[in-house]
Amino acid sequence: MKALIAVLPGDGIGPEVVGQGTRLLRAVAERFGHSFEMAEVPMGGVAIDLTGSPLPAETLALCQRSDAVLLGAVGGPKWDPPAKVRPEQGLLELRKALGLYANLRPVAPFPALYDASSLKPEVLRGVDLLVVRELTGGIYFGEKRRDEHQAFDACVYTVEEVVRVVRAAASLARTRRKRLTSVDKANVLETSRLWRAVTERVVREEFPDVELKHLLVDACAMHLIKRPVDFDVIVTENMFGDILTDEAAMLSGSIGMLPSASLGADRRGLYEPIHGSAPDIAGRGVANPYGTLLSVAMLLRHSLGLEQEARQVEAAVAASIEAGALTADLAPSGTRPMGTQEIGTAVLARLGERH
Ligand code: NAD
Ligand code: IPM
Ligand code: MN
Repeated sequence: MKALIAVLPGDGIGPEVVGQGTRLLRAVAERFGHSFEMAEVPMGGVAIDLTGSPLPAETLALCQRSDAVLLGAVGGPKWDPPAKVRPEQGLLELRKALGLYANLRPVAPFPALYDASSLKPEVLRGVDLLVVRELTGGIYFGEKRRDEHQAFDACVYTVEEVVRVVRAAASLARTRRKRLTSVDKANVLETSRLWRAVTERVVREEFPDVELKHLLVDACAMHLIKRPVDFDVIVTENMFGDILTDEAAMLSGSIGMLPSASLGADRRGLYEPIHGSAPDIAGRGVANPYGTLLSVAMLLRHSLGLEQEARQVEAAVAASIEAGALTADLAPSGTRPMGTQEIGTAVLARLGERH
């Protein structure tokens, strides 16, 4: 097949991990007979430096006519307050402009990495959960105001915004273990009370075969560490999903492991690891690229419909991890950690093998 993929390396370790992602995409195209055109454009801090805007019009236009977008990470101390425009604004604008309301963040720790996690192996065994984070609403996108005495961030959700993300999550639950946990703060927040009522109705009327439970976000943070194996699909609002998935990343051993897919009404999606630009390790070639490589698998599956290729990528990643190809964030002490590029090479070497 032919596809146009917009590549937005971004800032910090973004270009390092995305470099391995595009290398993998080229290898998939070659081995499976596809033609992927990859167009690299600036986004985030690098785009501010080049054009004054974190999301230049040309970058957005390219993303809009692409089949998929692969992104590294944006942000860094260079553009921290009191800077007027921030790299992160570009990412939020991009998600909104592309209508990407459902952010899928799967967490399925590899057995070979149980020891890299700060949790006990018996807590991690069998964990396979998916967080569906609402991505274009809530406190991220409400009105903001600030004067010298106070600051204000409005949290707003419409019924329609809740309905569509709950439908996406419940549909995914149907392809899995059919268990959906909706996470809110309905004991305090009005938006959460709306969230809970709408979720209840949508699941009861449209997904009677899916088991729905509600959990308050603070309790969910606790249960994610205590009994993560009990979760199947979690659906939650924008900010809760952001926080809970950095926490859930620790089940997998490192924040560098988790991929994500941001999807909307059509097949075009944005794919990025959930971590940030990691300024503390940027430029050294030591960043963990697995989250990006697994995001490439999600891109192949969700935007290009290449399920077999996606599975091949996931199998090659699993085999590399099994073989001990690990960056410094994961490597046991006393072993030599591999660099970002070496991990990419290890995965490519296993691509297309029979697994
Ligand atoms: P971070 O995720 O960048 O880093 C947190 C810690 O995890 C750091 O110690 C870092 O070295 C480590 N880490 C992250 N990714 C890693 C990887 N692939 N391999 C090995 N170690 C890794 O979070 P932060 O430090 O809070 O944020 C830094 C910047 O990134 C901020 O400007 C923030 O806004 C931005 N950010 C961007 C995105 C995104 O673009 N989607 C996501 C999160 C944070
Ligand atoms: C993420 C990041 C972003 C978010 C920031 C950089 C805007 O933390 O993708 O998880 O909060 O959505
Ligand atoms: Mn985050």
